[in-house]
Amino acid sequence: MKIIIINGPNLNLLGKREPSIYGHDSFEYFYKKLQNNHPTVTLSYFQSNIEGELIDKLQEVGFDHDGIILNAAAYTHTSVGIGDAIKAIETPVIEVHISNVHAREKFRHESFIAPNAKGIIVGLGLKGYELALQAFLP
Ligand code: DQA
Repeated sequence: MKIIIINGPNLNLLGKREPSIYGHDSFEYFYKKLQNNHPTVTLSYFQSNIEGELIDKLQEVGFDHDGIILNAAAYTHTSVGIGDAIKAIETPVIEVHISNVHAREKFRHESFIAPNAKGIIVGLGLKGYELALQAFLP
């Protein structure tokens, strides 16, 4: 299984950024644990604060990976381009949000990813990424 986690803007600050919402762990710390828990999965991780780089990565992996776990962060709510990229590729995408976006500001209730996602996991913290990974496993 070849699975990639793609994180969007400001998620490089996890652990430091609004810890009451996003928790105290860095993504790197969580990712190492995830890799250790799933040694049979070929797992990779990409983060960018730049919309076009996220689209480039989706295009690059979107025809040869088995699954994409995508937290597009703020671009979830704004990016027609990322939404179109998900339509264009073949690899299924599971959308993940650490916080419960539906319990937050109204602008976070909209998603350009959701209409073409295989599934969506919100509000379960970093555990959401592991649940998404498990959902791709046979
Ligand atoms: C987020 C929710 C988004 O609304 C926000 O812009 C983020 C993180 C989450 O994981 O809860 O940056 O995607």
